[in-house]
Amino acid sequence: MEHSENILILDFGSQFTQLIARRIREANVYSEIHTHEFPIEKIKAMKPNGIILSGGPMSIYDEDSPKISNEIFSLGVPVLGICYGLQLVSDAFNGKVEPAEKREYGKAHLKISSDSKLLKDVKDNSVVWMSHGDYISDFPEGFKVEAESENSPNCVISNEEKNIYGVQFHPEVAHTQEGKKIIGNFIFDICECKGDWTPQNFIKLSIDEIRSKVGSNKVLCALSGGVDSSVAAILMHKAIGDQLICVHVDTGLMRKNESENIIKMFRDKYHIDIIHVNAEDKFLSKLEGVVDPEKKRKIIGNTFIEVFEEEAKNFEGIECLVQGTLYPDVIESVSVKGKSVTIKTHHNVGGLPEKMNLKLIEPFRELFKDEVRAIGRELEMPAEFIDRHPFPGPGLAVRILSDITKYKVSLLQEADQIYIDEIRAGGIYNEIWQAFAVLLPVQSVGVMGDARTYENVIALRAVTSTDGMTADWYKFPYDVLEKASNKIIQNVQGVNRVVYDVSSKPPSTIEWE
Ligand code: XMP
Repeated sequence: MEHSENILILDFGSQFTQLIARRIREANVYSEIHTHEFPIEKIKAMKPNGIILSGGPMSIYDEDSPKISNEIFSLGVPVLGICYGLQLVSDAFNGKVEPAEKREYGKAHLKISSDSKLLKDVKDNSVVWMSHGDYISDFPEGFKVEAESENSPNCVISNEEKNIYGVQFHPEVAHTQEGKKIIGNFIFDICECKGDWTPQNFIKLSIDEIRSKVGSNKVLCALSGGVDSSVAAILMHKAIGDQLICVHVDTGLMRKNESENIIKMFRDKYHIDIIHVNAEDKFLSKLEGVVDPEKKRKIIGNTFIEVFEEEAKNFEGIECLVQGTLYPDVIESVSVKGKSVTIKTHHNVGGLPEKMNLKLIEPFRELFKDEVRAIGRELEMPAEFIDRHPFPGPGLAVRILSDITKYKVSLLQEADQIYIDEIRAGGIYNEIWQAFAVLLPVQSVGVMGDARTYENVIALRAVTSTDGMTADWYKFPYDVLEKASNKIIQNVQGVNRVVYDVSSKPPSTIEWE
């Protein structure tokens, strides 16, 4: 997509790099992340309105520490260096960086010493968030100190003539009280952006782009019912109408009534016809007797492709497939030493386009999840749909910790529904990133009336998170937990015990399989 404004972020491996982009986009300016190896020719061709050099885990004096071409500083484009980025600015102008005696980590106070564009209207003595072990000992040529902190004499530096700035702290994190203002000063006052990156504009531009990419071809959309694929389908439909063919493969492993609700919403509210493929029997028969989590995941992924391909044969002239790829899947990460292992084989439509020889349409490959939600709201999708917790592709199969049967699926569906209803009734649904019930492969003894029972255990899970990569167990209000537990035991036949999962990720994962 062509962007009228763009702030380029060069990543040096900071854990906060994506946050910088999000903060800028929240201010309605488009921003793109590339690794520090992004070639200078491409930067010139991109003509960004500003460049931000991110933080990073290394010191610039470390062997193999990432560097950039000093040409960056003579393009006439404003530059802001954050933390490690500040060291790069300093180094480029003959300053000297040294290890600090005391590592500065956490909160510090910003003592502003002069009027500057970057710190315009920023309150003196506000809290900033630091994470560094080096400081500038010899000052870079042509620069001025704008502010200091307890342990950083050169906490904010600037060369206003060249429009180059550096901050030792992280303005992108929420703990930095005036961070939003500082980023705003950089993008609006220094880079002179206007801020036209809004959901309305995105929808308008994507519709044009989708139409020109698709022409008069037919497009297939695998509608799982998750937020990303649903918003993508509605946007696509707005762009190309009935050229879009939506197929919903019902694996029989969805939450209770989920497939019906999705189809109803599309048909009644948006008048989009969806092909509902009921493949429950096929999925359950392929999964019969399978206990191993990775085997389950692979069977589900392959069966999905099989069913979907079979269905697509009924249509002629399909050239494109919609995929709900998001920006975090696209960003190239700065290389991390060591090998990565597969923890879980994820199930999505990946693999289909090559197999079926289809051209990919990925309307959200430039968006973060929150931005997809904002697009959904703009397209008037109901809030309770847009704000739903994530649901994994393999569905309830990875929440039944044994072989899968129709009985176990419906037992879990009942328990899950009661749990989620109680969470909604308690008004805490939106505080939780994801909540769900799990059916354990354990029987335990109970007493109901005067009789002994020997039945199943349901585990309840609820976590808070920002991206699913790390998560904390949710500190559940006891009264809601109590109601959910009582109702599950009373109403779900075959369950006589409920437990709550108090593990964080890492070392646990969010799903149990
Ligand atoms: P874990 O269990 O790895 O999950 O901590 C992190 C997030 O990813 C979701 N998840 C999946 N999503 N296909 C998906 O689309 C999958 O195969 C899959 N497995 C896990 C999980 O629900 C959580 O939000």
